Amino acid sequence: MTKLKVMSVFGTRPEAIKMAPLVLELDRREGIESLVCVTAQHREMLDSVLRVFGIAPDYDLNVMQSGQTLAGITSRVLGGLGGVLTLARPDLVLVHGDTSTTFAAALAAFYAKIPCGHVEAGLRTHDRWSPYPEEMNRQLVGRLASLHFAPTANNAANLARENITKGVYITGNTVIDALGYTAHGEGFESPELNALDFTGRRVITLTCHRRENYGEPMEHIFAAVRCIARGNPDVLVVYPVHLSPVVREAARRNLGGISNVALIEPLSAVDMHRLMAKSYMVMTDSGGLQEEAPALGRPVLVLRAETERPEAVEAGTVALAGTDTERIVELASSLLHNAAAYERMARAVNPYGDGQASGRIADAIEFEFKLRAAPPEEFRP
Ligand code: UD1
Ligand code: UDP
Repeated sequence: MTKLKVMSVFGTRPEAIKMAPLVLELDRREGIESLVCVTAQHREMLDSVLRVFGIAPDYDLNVMQSGQTLAGITSRVLGGLGGVLTLARPDLVLVHGDTSTTFAAALAAFYAKIPCGHVEAGLRTHDRWSPYPEEMNRQLVGRLASLHFAPTANNAANLARENITKGVYITGNTVIDALGYTAHGEGFESPELNALDFTGRRVITLTCHRRENYGEPMEHIFAAVRCIARGNPDVLVVYPVHLSPVVREAARRNLGGISNVALIEPLSAVDMHRLMAKSYMVMTDSGGLQEEAPALGRPVLVLRAETERPEAVEAGTVALAGTDTERIVELASSLLHNAAAYERMARAVNPYGDGQASGRIADAIEFEFKLRAAPPEEFRP
């Protein structure tokens, strides 16, 4: 019997972390031949994830360049993947989320007349400039894809408002599946983490790298971090700095040389998840961390004006802090000094998934291609 050929395409660290559990699930399905094509929009940060999950790609477009532009990434992925699709002829292409890789890969699949499945579909801010360019990427992929794996009912409702109602499955987010592989266990791989003295210190895990925060917003965020660190000597801010040269320059200039701010290299997913589990709170502009930290019971201050992930804000464990220095300092101080405010936010909630998302997505694919009689049950928190 010929197997259903499913090609997963991803290229950045967050896509890799969220696609890895699905790739491993597809590998286990007898009726499916699972192929992986990485674009390597990120190189080292992608390779770190591939190593953690033991995934060896079948194709590697190796598109990353230092200081790459959005148009450059998009055109290299579109051209490169076009060739791979001609060669491999998969029955379905899977893309994830909202990156340049996601958009270009969905477009390449459309040009090759191969159906595309969008994992993590339906997240919206409805503001095309925030997150930039991710909101637009996600909307465009919503148009291009034939199957839409929406993590939550709210995400599916966003799709319905755009008249996307066919091929929509509510699956939960695969990021919670990924935590099942990484978050347990003790100790760190990173020598930089192992060299830090955590005794008696409240750790704030910080990440900040989004393009809409480049320039002034990032300066304001770092000014707030300086103020929080200087005003609270028992706090240790641990910031694994993204490899983007723009981010590294701003981080070093603003936060270098402060004794209780540790600027360290990007962490493996295992170390990152363990660090968050050990932290008092998380401050971030990342999408993925907004989903992971609530599952680990850690309060999150989101360093962005808007979020496409309102579920944890509604559940009360994530607060939208924005990029204004004073407001960030005020919210962080409240969490550091007001026990009741902290307790209200530090609850483990799982609005995004139950660890079974990959299984539901694989079931939905089998159902769509008539390898299974019934669709999967919807994820409900
Ligand atoms: C991309 C995604 C964003 C995601 C982020 C996660 C787009 C438009 N945005 O943005 O949604 O949140 O990744 O990190 O696709 N670099 C390295 N090595 C690496 C990774 C990056 O050197 O392993 C450097 C390169 O100089 C690269 C730069 O970082 O040019 C920026 O990477 P890029 O993919 O252009 O954009 P991100 O801002 O990371
Ligand atoms: N992450 C990691 N190492 C780090 C920083 C982040 O493994 O040093 C993980 C994090 O736990 C989450 C994902 O990377 O799973 C988020 O990726 P990123 O912040 O790059 O992008 P975003 O979520 O903003 O798209």
